[in-house]
Amino acid sequence: MKRNTKVGIVTSGGDCQGLNAAIRGVGKSLLKYVDNVEIFGMYDGYRGLIEGDYKFMESKDFSGILTEGGTILGTSRQKYIPGKAIVDDEGNDLMPAMLDTYNRLNLDCLIVMGGNGTQKSAKLLMDAGMNIITLPKTIDNDIYGTDTTFGFQSAVDIASNVIDYIHSTASSHGRVFLVELMGRDAGWLTLNAGIASGADIILIPEIPYSIEAVAAAVEQRYRHGKHFSIIAVAEGAVSATDAVLSEEERRRVKEQSKHSTISYRIASELEALTGQETRVTVPGHYQRGGPPCPYDRVLASQFGTAAAMLIREKRYGQMVGIQKGEIVAVPLEDAASRTKFLPKDHPLIQTARDVEIYFGDEV
Ligand code: F6P
Repeated sequence: MKRNTKVGIVTSGGDCQGLNAAIRGVGKSLLKYVDNVEIFGMYDGYRGLIEGDYKFMESKDFSGILTEGGTILGTSRQKYIPGKAIVDDEGNDLMPAMLDTYNRLNLDCLIVMGGNGTQKSAKLLMDAGMNIITLPKTIDNDIYGTDTTFGFQSAVDIASNVIDYIHSTASSHGRVFLVELMGRDAGWLTLNAGIASGADIILIPEIPYSIEAVAAAVEQRYRHGKHFSIIAVAEGAVSATDAVLSEEERRRVKEQSKHSTISYRIASELEALTGQETRVTVPGHYQRGGPPCPYDRVLASQFGTAAAMLIREKRYGQMVGIQKGEIVAVPLEDAASRTKFLPKDHPLIQTARDVEIYFGDEV
């Protein structure tokens, strides 16, 4: 008699929109195309795998979740020593526990949906002998090997909406507004939302800013009769003076700063330089919440169903991605090998400059 195919699903790291759409895509197409398949959903990311806390998933579990935000399986962040181990708070290696659950369930494959960090930690699971397929999910869009991650477009929509709304109040009061957006050390979210919502200045980690240049841009706008300015600031934005520091030195500057985030620091420096009233808005996790936008629902469905096809073909060790509009399988080894920052010559940066958006590097 043919042995059942057993598949585990993990959603790991920070959540984002589209996770449930992806789970649905995986589940529905596994049940449709893979004979005698059994699907196990691990609770709360790697925790479920570590502690053997999972749920046997049936057809009904994959219905009615397409448009739901978050993840029905729950997620968590696990401590990860780059390239070495996934550990608990005491530094104990958690791989044996994860392998134990994998082997006890007799899994053929584990599908791991995660961001940049999860791709790297999933590679450790692969190296330990598990059959792994990953899906790229994150609002940061910083995963190598895919042009887009699911969650990203939904966050761009929300972030653009925040800036749209800030416009009217900034304009009524003639104030400078900084809107700080997520994205970790990559500027994809801020660049896209900034262009979409007509920000006047965009500050991203990939283009270190000079505060004098930012102030000059604000003042130039003022001279041209524009008494308000909107600055889209990536949470990882960095000044040109800090950019040359070592990682350790930068961490110290951050710790010693009296400002809670980079935007508050820029706001206080700008106010001092320009004399213009300045305010900060930080939408934070709001950017990761709520239902996925239609684009993400489609993309996550495509990724999920493609993962099921890879399982059917027993093609493991792959991340599903999208390149130039085509759904592709990228060796996990490559996807986990680096972070996808915004290239300095990315055409969108020029588009932004062409519509008179400043980056704080020149006036
Ligand atoms: O990686 C996704 C992300 O939302 C980043 O943009 C942000 O820096 C980080 O996660 C926030 O992490 P947490 O949810 O753990 O506060």
